[in-house]
Amino acid sequence: HSTWESLDGVATLLEDRFDEPSVLIVTDPFHALRSRLIAQEVGLTAYVSPTRTSPWGGGTQFKKSVKEAAGIALDIYETCPIIGSDSRVIGGSDWSAAAGSDIVVITSGKPRKPGMSRMDLIETNAKIVRGVAENIKQHAPNAVVIVVSNPLDEMTALTQIATGFPKERVIGQAGMLDTARFSHFVAETLAVPVASVQTLTLGSHGDTMVPVPSRCTVDGKPLSDLLPPEKIEELVVRTRNGGAEVVALLKTGSAYYAPSAAAARMAKAVIEDSGAVMPVCAWVDGEYGISGVYLGVEAELGKGGVRKVVETNLTDTEKAGLLEAAEAVRAKQADVQSL
Ligand code: 2OP
Repeated sequence: HSTWESLDGVATLLEDRFDEPSVLIVTDPFHALRSRLIAQEVGLTAYVSPTRTSPWGGGTQFKKSVKEAAGIALDIYETCPIIGSDSRVIGGSDWSAAAGSDIVVITSGKPRKPGMSRMDLIETNAKIVRGVAENIKQHAPNAVVIVVSNPLDEMTALTQIATGFPKERVIGQAGMLDTARFSHFVAETLAVPVASVQTLTLGSHGDTMVPVPSRCTVDGKPLSDLLPPEKIEELVVRTRNGGAEVVALLKTGSAYYAPSAAAARMAKAVIEDSGAVMPVCAWVDGEYGISGVYLGVEAELGKGGVRKVVETNLTDTEKAGLLEAAEAVRAKQADVQSL
């Protein structure tokens, strides 16, 4: 919504401010909100909103967000002296940088927006994740792959299909995050240190997530001795909606720090070949009477990925929830074959 005269102003501003290809949406103030929404829809981020004082007499402009991996990597690399790490951090857009990796973490794909379910991302993210998985297959054929992209259980299954890697070498990150959320909610509710809290979540990283109250303890005491059933149910529901709660607050983007910490913990167990048992999305082959599906379960992790799925005692309700989750994700995981 503009005039040719005002575009002169835009051109000058482009020259002055941007040293790379940019996208601008120019509007009058009346249309600024709508153009901001359109810009977000197509993946642009706000650069500056000069409105009435801008050279073209009003508008909102957006610049394509170009967060070059090399720049982000250098920034993180330069953190290393402060935190006392001798890690090497390299970023780039060329897959050769990942050649021969022992572990690859896939976070590619769009995050959801407020009101969306993770499943709304399946078609878009399947295309992105399939491309990434094919590159991993080519450049890092021996890697253990940790998938963080959503919808998590389906993107994990798709990564295994597209790489053709043994199923134990493809793992999804979800249970660590969901369990961390559950633990946080319990610790906050009871005002106790997080270290005293043990919780567990299984099932899908979605509507059929199965927080497992029977496995929750605080200083070894069952959660049911410390909180009434309705309060526990409230925390279960909040855990199931934990991702959406963050998305609603952020308005653009989804949780970042907790998923990163969870994936890093999984990578550590793999690289150290530690045998640590943690909730992850793993291929289930007979455990809990469930077969042939990627599902959130506890698993022992080591150098080759999942060493074994570890079964735990569940109440009848929790077991039924896990079976329901398995059938829900099985149907969707069949769909991703063709996406
Ligand atoms: C979450 O639950 C992004 O799925 C991730 O926050």
